[in-house]
Amino acid sequence: MTRHLLRDDDLTPAEQAEILDLALELKADRWSLRPLAGPQTVAVIFDKSSTRTRVSFAVGIADLGGIPLIISTANSQLGGKETPADTARVMERQVAAIVWRTYAQAGLEEMARGTRVPVVNALSDDFHPCQLLADLLTIREHKGELKGLTLAFFGDGRSNMAHSYMLACVTAGMHVRVAAPENYTPRADVVADAERRAAETGGSLTLFTDGDQAAAGADVIVTDTWVSMGKEEEKLERIRDLGAYKVTPDTMSQADRDAIFIHCLPADRGYEVDAAVIDGPQSVVWDEAENRLHAQKALLVWLLRQNGTAAQVAA
Ligand code: CP
Ligand code: NVA
Repeated sequence: MTRHLLRDDDLTPAEQAEILDLALELKADRWSLRPLAGPQTVAVIFDKSSTRTRVSFAVGIADLGGIPLIISTANSQLGGKETPADTARVMERQVAAIVWRTYAQAGLEEMARGTRVPVVNALSDDFHPCQLLADLLTIREHKGELKGLTLAFFGDGRSNMAHSYMLACVTAGMHVRVAAPENYTPRADVVADAERRAAETGGSLTLFTDGDQAAAGADVIVTDTWVSMGKEEEKLERIRDLGAYKVTPDTMSQADRDAIFIHCLPADRGYEVDAAVIDGPQSVVWDEAENRLHAQKALLVWLLRQNGTAAQVAA
């Protein structure tokens, strides 16, 4: 069966650790692996806007010896005349992997069912697993071993980022806290999946409505935009509802003295985070943005190895 990355818990704890190890190796020696030399092409499809994901996949595929084919759905048949399954059948005969940023998780699942090449979720309404690989790499670089660390997320607990922190961090054996108002609490099925995974790894998930309790002693403080792509019509309502969950210097003062601040970006300074925090000494957001490159290269190498789709992949 072809391996894909559609959500964070598609990776076992051991697989996640293997990819992070490989990412560190590739970061230290950027052009050491060229599994896409040939060159082979990787399709990178965008239904939504992007800066980091577009740049890091394009550069990463080139680093691996391949050619990135960046497709905007506005100019393709996908999303209009053609289904994800038919698109996948067309593409698999020509590309080594398909990376897709889209709305519905169901579309990614359909794409993955329809193809023998790996499909990577480059952000959906539900999850952002590529971002989490970069975030875990960043946390590991700054804090050492992931297992046992506490990460506190503030804001929209139903967002793709909150769900991905829950699944990916408990997979790494971390303790995850989500601070969100009652009508923005994480989806029950994702909570259940995170709790199941946490029981295997020794991690944990705790939901809070009180931000101060969530911040207390945390090693990593994180937030995300209050207005995710596709939610623009709810902007005013969200600013009102989520205002109490802004990450401020006071939030950071309640966390561990050596806590770091991360944010997937783009950020709305003054809304979900104060400029004094994101531009302050505890913020590692630029390392985090760079790590998208290294983490995704490792992911692609790993998927190609798993699926045996690249004859020249180094063992
Ligand atoms: N963090 C992230 O995915 O950024 P982009 O939307 O710019 O790709
Ligand atoms: N939650 C945000 C993440 C952007 C990278 C969104 O979906 O817009």
